[in-house]
Amino acid sequence: MTALPRHVAIIMDGNGRWAKAHKLQVALGHRKGVEALRAIIRESSDLGIEALSLYAFSTENWRRSPQEVEALMGLLLEYFTGEIDELDEKNVCIRILGDKDGMPDKQRRALFDAEARTKGNTGLKLNIAINYGGRAELVRAAKALAKKAAEGRIDPGDITEDVLASELYTAGLPDVDLLIRTSGEMRLSNFLLFQCAYAEFLFPETLWPDFGLKDYHAALDAFGRRERRFGGRNP
Ligand code: FPP
Repeated sequence: MTALPRHVAIIMDGNGRWAKAHKLQVALGHRKGVEALRAIIRESSDLGIEALSLYAFSTENWRRSPQEVEALMGLLLEYFTGEIDELDEKNVCIRILGDKDGMPDKQRRALFDAEARTKGNTGLKLNIAINYGGRAELVRAAKALAKKAAEGRIDPGDITEDVLASELYTAGLPDVDLLIRTSGEMRLSNFLLFQCAYAEFLFPETLWPDFGLKDYHAALDAFGRRERRFGGRNP
């Protein structure tokens, strides 16, 4: 296999269209989406990918119908309570990207528990973005740095890209190397804006519930064939 990305980010798009195409309720599309993500997480761990970031629920997703939001909240709770044993056994370290405090009680507790329980694990770093927005993440980092400066704990002149990165939810992780958005949509939708600065982007047409290991391997192979220059010029 060609060189693997260290950090893969995925926008799992197309659950709604998948449900519609199968004449099913949207909640079933999301449920099928969880099955797809289970396989991708397992494979990422088996391949030895360092970090995997999944966009599960954006700050904008609260605008969906109460039924759909409820279904997604139910799936999140089910996932974080039902899968935590297996993830922990696989040495996966879970980190939530986003505002956990803005989540309903049960979900918030499950998210904090999942992080606490897997904190010391040294395998795949699994980041799940929930109640997340990339601009809000940058504002949060700016506020944290402004507070440190006001308290005299940092000199504004010492603020570098690395210092800013250390205030993001992804502190300590490598930048995103490969971003995959399924379903043919070609947008970043406020996901990991700072971290994707030099990411390679892939937009497979497959709807997320149909995105299987074959598709994942094809994406990883395509990444391996990309020539990455980071603004420079290769000989
Ligand atoms: C986009 O599809 C998908 C989402 C907004 C949610 C993704 C969530 C999951 C896969 C399940 C929950 C996650 C975990 C970690 C348990 P869409 O509904 O916008 O699709 P559409 O564009 O076809 O309508």
